[in-house]
Order: sequence, then structure tokens, then C-alpha cells
Amino acid sequence: MTETGRHVGILGTGSYLPEKVLTNADLERMVDTTDEWITTRTGIKERRIAADDETASDMGAAAARNALANASIGPDSIDMIIVATITPDNYFPSTACLLQHKLGISDVPSFDLSAACSGFIYGVSVAKQFIRSGHAEHVLVVASEKLSAITDWSDRSTCILFGDGAGAAVLGPVDNGGILGEHLGSDGSGGDLLYCRATASRVNGPHGVSPVAVNTLQMQGNVLFKHAVRLMTDAALTVIKPLGIKTDDIKLIIPHQANIRILNAVGKKLGIDAETQLYLNLEKRGNMSAASTAIALAEAVEEGRVEKGDIILLDAFGGGLTWGAMVIQW
Ligand code: COA
Repeated sequence: MTETGRHVGILGTGSYLPEKVLTNADLERMVDTTDEWITTRTGIKERRIAADDETASDMGAAAARNALANASIGPDSIDMIIVATITPDNYFPSTACLLQHKLGISDVPSFDLSAACSGFIYGVSVAKQFIRSGHAEHVLVVASEKLSAITDWSDRSTCILFGDGAGAAVLGPVDNGGILGEHLGSDGSGGDLLYCRATASRVNGPHGVSPVAVNTLQMQGNVLFKHAVRLMTDAALTVIKPLGIKTDDIKLIIPHQANIRILNAVGKKLGIDAETQLYLNLEKRGNMSAASTAIALAEAVEEGRVEKGDIILLDAFGGGLTWGAMVIQW
């Protein structure tokens, strides 16, 4: 098929959050921490935790149903499904295949994408290429995470940060605007700064590592912090400069919700007005890896913070290391 060069945009967004709320007060009873420490160091007050039997594909399917409804697109019009997750239901089959079945869709290519917290932006970028080239018409991109399943609940330096949830977007051709540009990157030399070895082929067999260390997320938080500020700032500038867009032109920056101090530092470097131009939901959601940016986008749209014609910037950073930024004219 020949490249169509058509505009590609987001036709609808949706999100899903599990019911259970875990507050900082709850965490005070679990590890040696305080609400005051968590609030001042991270900006997080509470996060959602999935039920024991609730999986990434369950949450993703719920978010996808909302996105399809908001896009006024039926499941039978979807011709590709991408699920960004680092907490898949199984090692295989992919969470995307399980989610496809839950949505009653069949025969379309469905696959998982692993780019940690940058996964939603990576997924939207991949979807865009298929639609732009004419190889797909409507692509469903879902970001779903059950980080509670890979959290070491005895480690106060990580368990305070993460939450569960799912966000989704339906992409398709648009008359004008849509995705104006994106920048994706990765640096595998930072792979040991944030990882979970669970079920990975490298830990099969005897290796002398404790099961907790193998099955849970491990992180060098303070080193990551500096990378996050630098890479999210660079990614944003790399994507907006060639487009001739100034930070003043951006209605809303919707970033990966890692830490309020990271986001304020990025906002300062970009010279934006954080009060009006920075979308935050981490106080009530925590860091949900790939799902963070997807849910933040869906919530910003639902709250009327993003309107037709607005220019928005998605910006994320995560394990890998990976990063991605994307400019969309709504
Ligand atoms: N409660 C109380 N004290 C805590 C704590 C907690 N929950 N977690 C860590 N501490 C302590 C540490 O033990 C350390 O004590 P010490 O000085 O006696 O050794 C002290 O607080 C400072 O630790 P440090 O790790 O330097 O804190 P920080 O200011 O860097 O904040 C993070 C820690 C994790 C909040 C911060 O580094 C961060 O958010 N990093 C980015 C992580 C991230 O976003 N990861 C995902 C990438 S997408």
C-alpha cells in the first residue's frame, strides 16, 4: 500500500481506575514512612490498587470500552490493538490478545509493547505510522498497569510511588491537525536503574537472587530523578523546535506523573506556567507507568482542559531507559 500522508489524530480517550484507594496513612502502617515525607518528596497522597483477580487486560478492556464510546467507534471498526504494559497478565499470550477477546474483536493484529512509562507515547506513535501509511484505519492503543503486583511492599523507597490503572485512545484519520510530531528515544545503558527481572529468561534456573528481588521492581530513585528531568526536558524541546512551536503555544503539557518535583523542574526548564500549562493527577493516582500519561490525557479531556484546536504536549520518561514526547493538535 502506498503512503497516504494523511493526518492522524486521537478520536476518543478513556480510562479505568480500580476501586481500592491506598492512602499515605495506609502506607504509614505498612512501612517506616510518613504522609509528610511522601507528600513533600513526591506530591502523591493516594493511589489505586487493583483487586487480586483484576489484571492488566481487565483494566485495559474497561478503559478501551470508554475510549471506543467516546470516539463513537464500534469494536468491529478497530483493525489493530497495541497494549503498552510492563505488568502483562502472562509472559504470553500477550495482554493485547487477551484484551482483544474481552472486547469481542477478532482477526486483527494485536501485540504488547514494552517501553515502561513511555509506553503510551510509543504506542500512539506506532499506531500513527500504520494509519498514516494506509495499513490501518482505526487503531486502539491501551496502556494498562498493575504495578501493585510487582511492588516490594516492604521497600519504602518504591512502594510509596506506584499505583494501578488503565488508559486508552482510539486513533484514526482526521481532516487536519492531529499528531504534529513526536520524538522517541532509549538508552539501554541505564537499564539497571529501574527494572523487574520477574519471569525473564535471564533469571531462569539457579542464580542466587532472592525471590522478592527477582519478582519486584528495583530502582535507583535519586539517579533516575536527574535523568528524568534532563530527558523529559530534552524530549519536549526536540519535538517542538522543528515544528516552530513555542512553549507559550502549548495549551497543556500532559506528562508522565512520576514525581511533582520532577515535573516542576521540567516545567521550570521549559519556562511554562505550571499553574495553567501543566496537567497533574499524581496526587490521587501516583505513578502508573505507561498508564499514567494515558489516564492523564483522558482525564484532561474529560475535565474540558483540552478543546478542539488546542496544542498539547505529551512527555514521558521511564525504565529502559526510554523517553518520548509528542505534540498533538486536538
Ligand atoms: N519515607 C521516609 N524516608 C524515606 C522514604 C520514605 N518512603 N524513602 C526513602 N527514604 C529515605 C532514604 O532512606 C534516605 O534516607 P538516608 O538519607 O538516611 O539514607 C532519604 O529518605 C533520602 O533518600 P533519597 O532516595 O535520596 O530521596 P529522594 O529525595 O531522591 O526521593 C524518590 C526518593 C524515590 C521519591 C525520588 O528519588 C524519585 O521520585 N525519583 C524518581 C523515581 C521515579 O520517578 N521512578 C520512575 C521513573 S518513571
